[in-house]
Amino acid sequence: MAQKIIVRGGRPLKGRVRVSGAKNAALAILCGAILAEESIVLDNIPNISDVQHIIQAITYLGARVVWRKDDALSVSVSALKSRKAPYELVKKLRASNLLLGPVLARCGEVRIPLPGGCNIGIRPMDLHFKGLSALGAQVTIERGYIWARAPRLYGAQIYLDFPSVGATENIMMAACLAEGQTLIENAAKEPEVVDLANFLNGIGARIFGAGTDVIRIEGVKELGRRIHYSVIPDRIEAGTFMVAAAATGGKVKIEGVIPRHIQPLTAKLREIGVEVVEGEDVLCVKRTQELRPVNIKTMPYPGFPTDMQSQVIALLTVASGTSVVVENIYENRFQVAQELRRMGAKIKVEGRAAIVEGVPQLCGAQVRATDLRAGAALVIAGLIAEEETEVNGAELIYRGYKDFERKLAGLGADIRTFTVAGEKDVAGKEKK
Ligand code: UD1
Repeated sequence: MAQKIIVRGGRPLKGRVRVSGAKNAALAILCGAILAEESIVLDNIPNISDVQHIIQAITYLGARVVWRKDDALSVSVSALKSRKAPYELVKKLRASNLLLGPVLARCGEVRIPLPGGCNIGIRPMDLHFKGLSALGAQVTIERGYIWARAPRLYGAQIYLDFPSVGATENIMMAACLAEGQTLIENAAKEPEVVDLANFLNGIGARIFGAGTDVIRIEGVKELGRRIHYSVIPDRIEAGTFMVAAAATGGKVKIEGVIPRHIQPLTAKLREIGVEVVEGEDVLCVKRTQELRPVNIKTMPYPGFPTDMQSQVIALLTVASGTSVVVENIYENRFQVAQELRRMGAKIKVEGRAAIVEGVPQLCGAQVRATDLRAGAALVIAGLIAEEETEVNGAELIYRGYKDFERKLAGLGADIRTFTVAGEKDVAGKEKK
């Protein structure tokens, strides 16, 4: 359903906000749940549209998923009914490629539609294929589907040319049921990878070293332990509120976070001149002075997260000087620049770099979210702009942020979400 957010700028955000469970950890763990032979309970699952889509996909494959309360659900997969995820179900969500590893490991075969490119880049899957092939799978592409099969998987030593989050997760899930030991070298170190490993260990896997660049997995025969597992807090949601607080000159306490996971952003915000005080599971963000320009390069964790790049660009549009933001993960993630320009921002994109020259004030405009984080960035820009900003394509924001409007309104923002009938989506297709 197409949505738009209307925000009126000029109110400093004040108060406290609690972050939800991490979208990217929840998506991976829901795919990993396919490996569990016993019923499990998952807590701190954000009920957002990406999560609903992955639940539809695993339900189609044979999982029984029951919401128990607002953010907790149970999953049981006594047997898989299908090894093929249909295009209609998974096209909405790139993360459905995380079904490859677990379905292959559990059934010896899997078919999922080859994901297309997306608004932020081409996003190939060569490293996923390299890893699964090394474990003994035959991987082919047929009629738009990835088809992986292997009567048995065998442990292997796999070096990733790039520490891909998805490839690390897929290989780790497949290797849990492989015969013998697997080593993933140059593995992704993102907290969501660690959370998935902790969940898998909870159901009986033997994974060591998650969070470092070498992950060792000793294959086991089955993953049959019942558990009750709580997903980590969403560091990107927390980061988005930190930036919104800083941008509006407010004072916000962000609760239920793991401050260490947000350290790369905290360090940059301090450089920009924002006060960030870390507690055990809270962060207090306050802006007391002019924003200074900074240079930022996005990198795999523990570097600066690409998923915070757009929001920080929105902040830097009103810094007192020129900042340079280099995007090293995706080749096409500066589309937010042209929307921010419509609000009066001065941003020049040169290849992988965005040069942001601070201006004294943004002004409200009609803009369009090109992806989830760009959408959040435009709302932040709207919070500091003069007059009214209309962010179209806001359904993309709700893919990843639970109760976005409610949480911002709770901090004093003047913000409303509307459903738009007959709107066209970014690709120009009529939306229902
Ligand atoms: C995950 C996150 C996403 C985040 C990204 C980087 C989920 C559901 N999504 O995406 O929010 O922006 O990590 O932190 O967890 N690549 C290849 N070949 C491959 C795989 C990846 O070239 O086989 C490239 C991609 O095109 C991209 C880069 O590696 O340029 C990073 O991708 P990856 O770490 O795999 O991101 P995702 O797991 O897709």
